[in-house]
Amino acid sequence: MSRVGILPPGALGVSFFYHLSDLGRSIDGQVTMLERRGSASSSTLRSQESFQIAKGSEILALPTATILQGDLLSCQAQGTLPEVLLVCPNPDQLLEVVTDLVELIVRGGVEDLPIVVFSANGIYFQRLRQAFIEKLEEATLFGRLSDLWPEPMGKIVGRLLRGVTMQTGLREGSGASTLYRPGPRGLTRIAGGDLESRQRALAILTGRGGWYELAEDCSPTRIEFDKALVNLSSNLMGLLLAIDDQGHFQRLSLASIFQPQHLPRVRELAFHLNAVGKAVRAYSEDDDVELLISQLVESSRLHQTHIPSSLQWVGMMLDLGKLEAKMPPTETWLVDPLLFYAEAAQLDDAVQYFRTLRDTLIQKLQLAIQAKEMANDRGAK
Ligand SMILES: NC(=O)c1ccc[n+]([C@@H]2O[C@H](COP(=O)([O-])OP(=O)(O)OC[C@H]3O[C@@H](n4cnc5c(N)ncnc54)[C@H](OP(=O)(O)O)[C@@H]3O)[C@@H](O)[C@H]2O)c1
Repeated sequence: MSRVGILPPGALGVSFFYHLSDLGRSIDGQVTMLERRGSASSSTLRSQESFQIAKGSEILALPTATILQGDLLSCQAQGTLPEVLLVCPNPDQLLEVVTDLVELIVRGGVEDLPIVVFSANGIYFQRLRQAFIEKLEEATLFGRLSDLWPEPMGKIVGRLLRGVTMQTGLREGSGASTLYRPGPRGLTRIAGGDLESRQRALAILTGRGGWYELAEDCSPTRIEFDKALVNLSSNLMGLLLAIDDQGHFQRLSLASIFQPQHLPRVRELAFHLNAVGKAVRAYSEDDDVELLISQLVESSRLHQTHIPSSLQWVGMMLDLGKLEAKMPPTETWLVDPLLFYAEAAQLDDAVQYFRTLRDTLIQKLQLAIQAKEMANDRGAK
């Protein structure tokens, strides 16, 4: 089979697609994008003839009929399920995808479950896998599935992998007028599941030209924490710096965010994250927080002109007049789990720190909205 499916065709999903199809040159039906069931954006995308994808200064128009499939359950009905499925919607859409994955097993048995690589940002894998098992148990309770313990439960859980990705991608506009801008090929590190599934996923994805590696000595939670440090220091801290005390917003690059005078704040973040990571055994006592910080600073030097995705997102939402004074989805799925773990481990300083971080960000977003409204009012007069 060796087919790859990517769910959904968002900015990250299209970037994965682009790099797994030889920058749009190899459209052979072996790599396709799948819709999220009931997704409004996907039904609009399906109604257009082609996907518009920027390749340097060229705009590719790739045929929708070949690259966009229906949702998971319709793929099952048509016999076109992929062998490997990259799942990268917003994190708050993941549970619905899990519901559909369980439904695949109910309707077609374990063999219909692809090797699933959860690739949205956030610290969620352990709890999502738990939710997956609970949904399976519920199906057993209601007589929709036979008893799954000890097998095939082991096989099912073995196919649930975590892919933490450095791949980037943007989309300009939405719905039918979307222009996708995939970033350069980025590394995705895979952990979790069983060895057979990890190796099979790796062989298929690298065989298509993707940049994937196995994080063999790391737990999924560990690679989530490593990426959380990158995301929070560039996206969340970036937003705090990008909105000044009058609410003026600037799209700052990593070079501005990682100025030497801002580093003490990055260090404070890293220390609290490391303390929570140690409490949940994502980090061991031997893990050196200084090393993590120096790797982070070095990586920011290599990507100086990059504007973190949350800053791009907030800029876009401000321009559209749609920004709300609440945590953006990516930050929510990092800060909330960190708070949850810090509270459970009674790390009072960390609890206080992450609460303050969250509240300060919300206040800054509120200021940015007010400043934008005032600027619009002045423009209208
Ligand atoms: N973009 C990046 O550079 C990047 C990098 C690493 C990780 N991530 C992570 O990947 C996840 C998804 O991010 P993303 O950047 O791919 O977000 P995105 O493009 O906004 O996609 C997320 C959701 O937006 C809707 N959507 C997708 N395409 C659309 C379109 N053309 N027009 C209107 N709505 C559309 C879909 O929801 P509906 O089905 O409800 O319409 C989709 O599930 C997040 O966890 C993010 O943090 C992103």
